[in-house]
Amino acid sequence: MEINPAVTFKHDRSIMYAKRPKVLIVGAGLAGLTLGMLLYKAGIPFEIYERAAKVKPLGSAMYFNCTTANLFKQCGIYEEFVALGKYVSSIKMCNENRELEFSVDFEGHEELYGANGYIVSRPLIYDLILRQIPEEHVHLGKKVLTMQQGGNGVLIRFSDGSEAEGDILVGADGAYSAVRQGMYEKLKKTNKLPASDALPLPFSTVRLVGQTHPLSAEEFPDLTIDKSQFRNFIATDKMYTWSTSTTAQNTVCWGAILFLDEETSKDNDAFRNSEWGPEAAAAMCEQVKDFPIISGGDKILTLQDLIDRSPKEFLSKVMLEEKVFKTWFDCRTVLIGDGMLYLSIFFSHTL
Ligand SMILES: Cc1cc2nc3c(=O)[nH]c(=O)nc-3n(C[C@H](O)[C@H](O)[C@H](O)COP(=O)(O)OP(=O)(O)OC[C@H]3O[C@@H](n4cnc5c(N)ncnc54)[C@H](O)[C@@H]3O)c2cc1C
Ligand SMILES: *[C@@H]1O[C@H](CO)[C@@H](O)[C@H](O)[C@H]1NC(C)=O
Repeated sequence: MEINPAVTFKHDRSIMYAKRPKVLIVGAGLAGLTLGMLLYKAGIPFEIYERAAKVKPLGSAMYFNCTTANLFKQCGIYEEFVALGKYVSSIKMCNENRELEFSVDFEGHEELYGANGYIVSRPLIYDLILRQIPEEHVHLGKKVLTMQQGGNGVLIRFSDGSEAEGDILVGADGAYSAVRQGMYEKLKKTNKLPASDALPLPFSTVRLVGQTHPLSAEEFPDLTIDKSQFRNFIATDKMYTWSTSTTAQNTVCWGAILFLDEETSKDNDAFRNSEWGPEAAAAMCEQVKDFPIISGGDKILTLQDLIDRSPKEFLSKVMLEEKVFKTWFDCRTVLIGDGMLYLSIFFSHTL
């Protein structure tokens, strides 16, 4: 297909109704897969292209509150979602002396909002969503290098020299979205990009996340409680917060966030372009290991006890840039997930 930029897009309803647009999704992360699941339900043609040859089940837990959990109701997989998750009836804010400061309560939210909030291990929720999409729609090992769009369609080219064409291009390719960068370059040339969107991502926090293997009630007594024990710890003298929560699989998901200032931001700069994963995580474990946590028992635990019980290959250090881009679509291209908004809806409730 030749993409003809001169043909302007017209909303011709007779054509729109006769033809279901083909959607090309770049990125098989949570955003890309969730959109794929919805399009599949709606009977709209789509293909997902992911640069990784294999998807790594990284991360800790995702908290879906009563509003976001409705997604699974709408897709008819709420029961499965609930079976994987542990009900969160409150989030407890604690201090460094292991005392409760205050509690945010969610009891009765199902009547109000139509669903309850659950904490689910990130690899499991990823797998649940992936299972809703027929395999042949997910193409692995396909790294998008360039894209073109015009009145008659979109065309993307992959690093292996192959191409794909469709009607709508969705950039679901994460915080360093290639689709966003391609789109912004073109907008910049025609002076259509707001100045704030042209600035680099501000690098404001570093996060370490992990998950223990299943623990016994002896190791972590709170696991016997059928509601997730979800605690956030706030320090008065350090630039960290940390949290723990119990899951339905008897694991403890945990995480620590370092809030960066100008100095510490520089220290972490080298990490900016490196991979998320075990290597970078080890150094951060050292920094947070003595932070106090609550297990429900009389044992005095710290994050070290959880680090010791967490498979190292699933530990990840993630950096966060809090930035909301103004420009999220152009012509036939649209950005979703971390590509348009780092610190996504999921992240506001993460561990
Ligand atoms: C390792 C990791 C651990 C995390 N842990 C947690 C956690 O424990 N709890 C929590 O709540 N949140 C966690 N998050 C954050 C949360 O999961 C993200 O906010 C969410 O994943 C964003 O989804 P996304 O689909 O927009 O982007 P991503 O998940 O980043 O997915 C983007 C996908 O696009 C692919 N891609 C990128 N460029 C290209 C290209 N050019 N061509 C083709 N494909 C491309 C990438 O390989 C990737 O699979 C974690 C994120 C990561 C990456
Ligand atoms: C649930 O989380 C979403 C995303 O952060 C937020 O918009 C919504 O207001 C939350 N719902 C409630 C009831 O707090």
